[in-house]
Amino acid sequence: MMDKIITSKIIKDTIENECVKTIMFNHAEPIEPGQFYMIWIPGIDEIPMSVSVIQQKKKGITFRTVGKATKALFQKTKNDIIGIRGPYGNGFSLKGEKILFVAGGTGIAMIAPAVEQAIKKNKVVDVILGAKTKKDLFFINRLKQTKATMHLSTDDGSIGFKGFATEKANELLLTNSFDAVYTCGPELMMKKLYQICLKSNIIFEASLERYMKCGVGLCGQCVVGKGIRVCVEGPVFSKSMLKDIPDFGVFNRDASGKKQLL
Ligand SMILES: Cc1cc2nc3c(=O)[nH]c(=O)nc-3n(C[C@H](O)[C@H](O)[C@H](O)COP(=O)(O)OP(=O)(O)OC[C@H]3O[C@@H](n4cnc5c(N)ncnc54)[C@H](O)[C@@H]3O)c2cc1C
Ligand code: FES
Repeated sequence: MMDKIITSKIIKDTIENECVKTIMFNHAEPIEPGQFYMIWIPGIDEIPMSVSVIQQKKKGITFRTVGKATKALFQKTKNDIIGIRGPYGNGFSLKGEKILFVAGGTGIAMIAPAVEQAIKKNKVVDVILGAKTKKDLFFINRLKQTKATMHLSTDDGSIGFKGFATEKANELLLTNSFDAVYTCGPELMMKKLYQICLKSNIIFEASLERYMKCGVGLCGQCVVGKGIRVCVEGPVFSKSMLKDIPDFGVFNRDASGKKQLL
């Protein structure tokens, strides 16, 4: 774990869709899929971002514009400077031989390197990429290049299965025997999947997102349940840990710590 901010030039930027961009930078420190960096946008803010591209000396993040920091980051291009702290948190365990990944919306960003790593470990992989509509999806071609079986799902049916990613997942879980489900996406989607997976002894891990300030377990901003720090004990939580997080799928907290119902 690197606690020092490393300033780095952006070496490549790629627009994935209208509001999603990938930024690549030089960073040799190893990182596991599911772990994250604190990304400093000079003069604006420092925000948590999962790793989305893992190469030996280069790493990447892929993000959606939602507010001030992500909008400023979206404006950055090749040769602009950002700061990087990390890697932080834990990654997916990638246990099991037959794996189902379920990615919703921006969750696709961190599921993509997990799929690639599982394939590298010779696992049999199915992946659901879900979004509201076709134009919100990204990384389709990237994941088509792996041996994973892809399933697209959109709420409006503009591509692939018409409906929620959870419905597609339920269908696959009923007709296949998976050892594990790994997911990242809207929390209500992950909660529904968790409830489905509670009915069997399948391995289940979900990546939680909470407002973060320090990223290293000091400020308490990201605490869920009884003192569980998402930035240190998470962001990936197993089924047994999720049992101790009553907040899961119910509420998160804003920058001031005030509860916001999901
Ligand atoms: C461990 C971790 C990993 C993350 N990885 C990624 C990633 O790989 N890609 C990515 O795009 N984002 C990721 N995020 C979320 C990202 O950190 C936030 O979107 C970002 O901090 C928002 O900062 P901002 O200044 O742009 O928005 P703010 O000004 O903080 O928020 C603007 C508005 O957007 C809302 N908002 C804030 N965050 C989100 C959100 N995540 N989704 C929807 N609305 C939101 C706020 O409630 C507010 O109304 C991750 C978060 C965590 C905790
Ligand atoms: S962000 Fe400070 S404790 Fe997690």
